Amino acid sequence: MKSDNMKPYLFENWHIKSWKDFLLLQQPNYSDYTLLLNTLSKLKSANKIVTENEIDQLKYFYSEAEKGNIFILQAGDCAETFDSCSFKDVKLRVEHILNLAKNLEDSIQKKVIVVGRIAGQYAKPRSEPFETLNHYSLPAFRGDIINGIDFNEIQRQPDPLRLLKAYESSKKTYDWIKEITNHTFFISHEALLLNYETNLTHKSIYSDKWYNFSAHTLWLGERTRELKSAHVEYLRGISNPVGIKLGPNANYKEMVSLLKLLNPQNISGKINLITRFGNKKNDLNLENLIDYLNQSGLRFSWSCDPMHGNSYKTNNGFKTRNFDDIINELIHTHKIHNKLGSYLSGIHLELTYKNVTECIGGYKNKLNENNLSENFQSFCDPRLNKQQSIDLIELFLLQRNE
Ligand code: PEP
Ligand code: CO
Repeated sequence: MKSDNMKPYLFENWHIKSWKDFLLLQQPNYSDYTLLLNTLSKLKSANKIVTENEIDQLKYFYSEAEKGNIFILQAGDCAETFDSCSFKDVKLRVEHILNLAKNLEDSIQKKVIVVGRIAGQYAKPRSEPFETLNHYSLPAFRGDIINGIDFNEIQRQPDPLRLLKAYESSKKTYDWIKEITNHTFFISHEALLLNYETNLTHKSIYSDKWYNFSAHTLWLGERTRELKSAHVEYLRGISNPVGIKLGPNANYKEMVSLLKLLNPQNISGKINLITRFGNKKNDLNLENLIDYLNQSGLRFSWSCDPMHGNSYKTNNGFKTRNFDDIINELIHTHKIHNKLGSYLSGIHLELTYKNVTECIGGYKNKLNENNLSENFQSFCDPRLNKQQSIDLIELFLLQRNE
């Protein structure tokens, strides 16, 4: 980590490996270093997944979202799996999200841009580095790009070859998406695994800008957004639009420093702030943060992720979320923006087209805790199922003007 008297925040000091001198969080330890280097060099020469024009186009859409002219629906699985990388599954995922976007668009009379958590959402941050079962501890599952879900020594070892498989699956997925849809459909994932991200980052052939060609936009997670983190250092050098997840412990002043660091030229369309505070009535913290940042003169758009602040464990051991908390956080956040004169221009959701039983509650078809075991498929966070996600959009449209 750099010492405080160095000048880590000068843009000129950024280079594609400068993140290595910063605080490294959430990175796996690979035992086969030669294989890792070999794999990374293959990634470095791999074909780009998205184009620079597409990235710039999305950045323009985010700049329109800042002005309230466009709405962004960012949605998909908490984590994709290699197993779900098939044309059929991708088609169903994409069609469901597009259908939700159409419902939104018909009512709000604004263009809705879709950003999938798809074609690369394979790495997961973990709060606990180890998982213990029957007094036996193994490295936690960190997503298919890193290790395997099965609870055994071999599967839980980080495997460099998974980086290539993740790249190939992402490439295939986006190629299918382009085949499936004539609509504007962008792809995104969390910027978590820095060796992966930086080897798919290249200088533009038209300018001096750098782009991450593995996704149109990436987001900085709640667990990696501290000022000195390697993730922040990496992200400040790329031209893609960047999302920032913001939870209740966000420090206002640090947020301003983070925004200046990631977007020193205050470019419109570069930053999407995604609040994920959890559902608390009269949340003055959220209101004060929004107000403070609105007054800062900095440019960004606002989204709400009503999922990640609302997870809890049931008595029967399932990690779940309550539909009521999700809709209430969303409406509450929307109303705060209305009151303060800013726009809630985006929703960030974890959902699936499948009829899973992962979140409780609902509108037309309510689930209770006892239903969770019927079809709980997520290896990671609980998703809204097909009906719950349709209901959420419908209720959002109904309640936002009340
Ligand atoms: C996620 O989006 O899957 C996630 C882990 O979010 P957060 O960083 O907001 O907890
Ligand atoms: Co999640």
